[in-house]
Amino acid sequence: MYAKRLYIKTFGCQMNVHDSERISGLLRNKGFRLTEKPEEADMIIVNTCSIREKSEQKGYSDLGRFAQLKRDKPGLVLGMAGCVAQQEGEDVLRRFKGLDLVFGSSNIAFVPQMVQTITLKSQPVVMVQEPPGPPRTTPADRKDRVRAWVSIMEGCDRNCAFCVVPTTRGRERSRPSAEIVQEVTHLAEAGYKEITLLGQTVNSYGKNLDEGVDFADLLAMLNAINGIERIRFTSPHPSDMTPKLIETMAELSKVCEYLHLPMQSGSDAVLERMGRGYTLDQYRRIVGRMRQFVPDMAFSTDIIVGFPGETEDDFEKTLDAVSEFEFDNVYYFNYSRRPNTPADRFEEQVSESVKAARFERLSTLEKGLARRKNHGLIDTVQEVLVEGRSKRDHAKFTGRTRSNKLVHFNGADDDVGRLLNVRIAAAGSTCLEGIRIPSGSR
Ligand code: SAH
Ligand code: F3S
Repeated sequence: MYAKRLYIKTFGCQMNVHDSERISGLLRNKGFRLTEKPEEADMIIVNTCSIREKSEQKGYSDLGRFAQLKRDKPGLVLGMAGCVAQQEGEDVLRRFKGLDLVFGSSNIAFVPQMVQTITLKSQPVVMVQEPPGPPRTTPADRKDRVRAWVSIMEGCDRNCAFCVVPTTRGRERSRPSAEIVQEVTHLAEAGYKEITLLGQTVNSYGKNLDEGVDFADLLAMLNAINGIERIRFTSPHPSDMTPKLIETMAELSKVCEYLHLPMQSGSDAVLERMGRGYTLDQYRRIVGRMRQFVPDMAFSTDIIVGFPGETEDDFEKTLDAVSEFEFDNVYYFNYSRRPNTPADRFEEQVSESVKAARFERLSTLEKGLARRKNHGLIDTVQEVLVEGRSKRDHAKFTGRTRSNKLVHFNGADDDVGRLLNVRIAAAGSTCLEGIRIPSGSR
């Protein structure tokens, strides 16, 4: 007999959130049901993230806490998944006596077999070797009924000097397009309206397949699937934003007017040391071309503050670039040293106090920009895909515009999964308020 109630704690990016959905989908087929309460669980899996030191520490601290639960429940199976598990492998067993299961994200398809092995042999199982072949298609236990994540590739072939992903998620591997089309077709049949394609450099999709299908071709194939109303993706790499992709995005009706395009820094010297493979001017040309084809395209970006050697002048170039591109949203992080990455060995690490001060300046700029952008939408009518009741105010409903802005509005339970027109009445820096208008009137 093995455990029946499963608790999963997830850290990190959308890819990790979706990996947890896949772990729970596979284990559901083995009779496990998700629980929200760790103390009730027969199996606990912590899906870890190692992108920054803080996220890694949080994973360890939760594991420590869950290991305590084993004292009262010796049969509890404790697992560690994700990037830290991949990084540490067997070593992690020495750090945590209570661990039964350690696996990387490329091994998820084998979770049911691993669980069976634990039951039979009652000894820890570690699986972090990347299996050969393309990523395997697995079921996924999705909580959301309207929007679905779909992983189209794993790994990353770039080597940004700050980033741990190439060592934790391996080389880039794309899923065959037919399997992706089949998965999205099933999602449409199940009533899903929006898909978000996931990959570390999602727009380099197809490079290692023999199919001759690139990311733009894949978008066109998915755009043709009946029932799907919106297509999003994250995160593209600027160097893979080909003219063909930009034109295809403009042509396809379901591809939303929103692009998350990580810039990382506005200084060419920093971009060069990061090994990003583009200059600020090349980035500028991509944004310009995209806006030429899709004038109302919303942009968001990622910025790293205090990369080794970042001077005051470099940082001001980043602030200038953020103002110039008028991003709708900026996600910014203090640089965090990661073991076995080139930037960890760079001299001239920036002090924590300088990082903190720069972080504040970027934060002030970003909030002002976001508020201004959102204010510009007041009195416009936006198409909103209704997601459900608002967590903040249960009497209201929430959904997102095609440009990915969160809107609170008056709605009804029947509206969930529908596209509605909402007139924007008020705006803050993180969300909009609106009033639903009858379809047809504008
Ligand atoms: N291509 C990936 C990038 C993953 S990491 C994607 O799909 O999003 C997400 C963001 O975390 C990066 O864009 C970068 O801005 C930030 N990041 C990565 N490594 C970091 C580090 N060592 N310190 C601080 N931020 C980092
Ligand atoms: Fe990381 Fe750069 Fe790849 S940020 S995921 S190495 S594109």
